[in-house]
Amino acid sequence: MSGGQALDTDCITLTRFVLEEQRKYPQATGDLTQLLNAILTAIKAISSAVRKAGIHHLYGISGSSNATGDAVKKLDVLSNDLFINMLRSSYTCCILVSEENEQVIVIEDKFKGKYIVCFDPLDGSSNIDCLVSIGSIFGIYRTANEDSCSVKDVLQQGKNMVCAGYALYGSATMVVLSLGLGQGVNGFMYDPSIGEFLLTERNMQIKPRGKIYSLNEGYEMHWDDATREYVNSKKRPKDGKPYGARYIGSMVADVHRTICYGGIFMYPATSEAPKGKLRLMYEGNPMAYIVEQAGGLAIDGKQRILDIVPKDIHERCAVFMGSKEDVQDVWDIYKKYSS
Ligand code: AHM
Ligand code: MG
Repeated sequence: MSGGQALDTDCITLTRFVLEEQRKYPQATGDLTQLLNAILTAIKAISSAVRKAGIHHLYGISGSSNATGDAVKKLDVLSNDLFINMLRSSYTCCILVSEENEQVIVIEDKFKGKYIVCFDPLDGSSNIDCLVSIGSIFGIYRTANEDSCSVKDVLQQGKNMVCAGYALYGSATMVVLSLGLGQGVNGFMYDPSIGEFLLTERNMQIKPRGKIYSLNEGYEMHWDDATREYVNSKKRPKDGKPYGARYIGSMVADVHRTICYGGIFMYPATSEAPKGKLRLMYEGNPMAYIVEQAGGLAIDGKQRILDIVPKDIHERCAVFMGSKEDVQDVWDIYKKYSS
């Protein structure tokens, strides 16, 4: 045999994985597989654009037009267009919610299907220009109302999701996915040599307790007493070692690290932003779903994020998510302050 790296000729691609899972349900139509394929196409294109973004800057061709005179779209606009166009043409969706669009996007009748997708096409916008990891987030719901689907069908509790996932554009591109309550979480690394996502992290589990806390400490003067007491208890513990601090400022990257290493990610309410900054429908909910499916916990300080009944597609929610015991500690402190 000649040299070269061995290729697994029976590798499990993300599509193969989803097909196998769907076959367990005789009533499944294949629509979810089709929908996920559309999202994967968008993610591959975004990943490629993200990887090139630095080089474009280096050669000064980023801006309103590129070297050949074509208009260059900003990465977040490009990502949003990719998500919308791929989802629309998958014939599986009736309504879309994007961080980038003020109103819901209603799919025309000829393209219509039974799924609702809420997404943040490119999260971590402040990190785009400095090459720090960014991500895409999505949550998928089914509607009982395919023909006349409207905003009220979208405003569902996160626990109704049929699938949630994120893509992390880090030192590699990875998709992390949960295919339903009780289905756990699996991670798929992108292999650019074959253009496929391969199952590399099977049944991801968060440690019950970690050693890292993660939040923007610059806002300390605006925190409430419960957040201050919690963070203080990790920095100056009565016994044991203090926790380490890590904060990237990209939710997908911070939560992915929390799933891999354990600990807690927080974006609490502040006096300036009484409901925090992060958005429930396409940031809080899908990430909470994945964290819980990996054995963790996700709350807003008062309740599980997945139990919140949304009133507005762009509403915000405070976020505490990660290792179960770490998040429970926060919850206990909040309960003490509210009683
Ligand atoms: P964005 O949707 O405008 O990118 O904002 C969301 C991001 C999250 O990825 C991250 O957790 C948070 O904003 C960081 O905010 P801050 O800079 O206030 O710490
Ligand atoms: Mg965002």
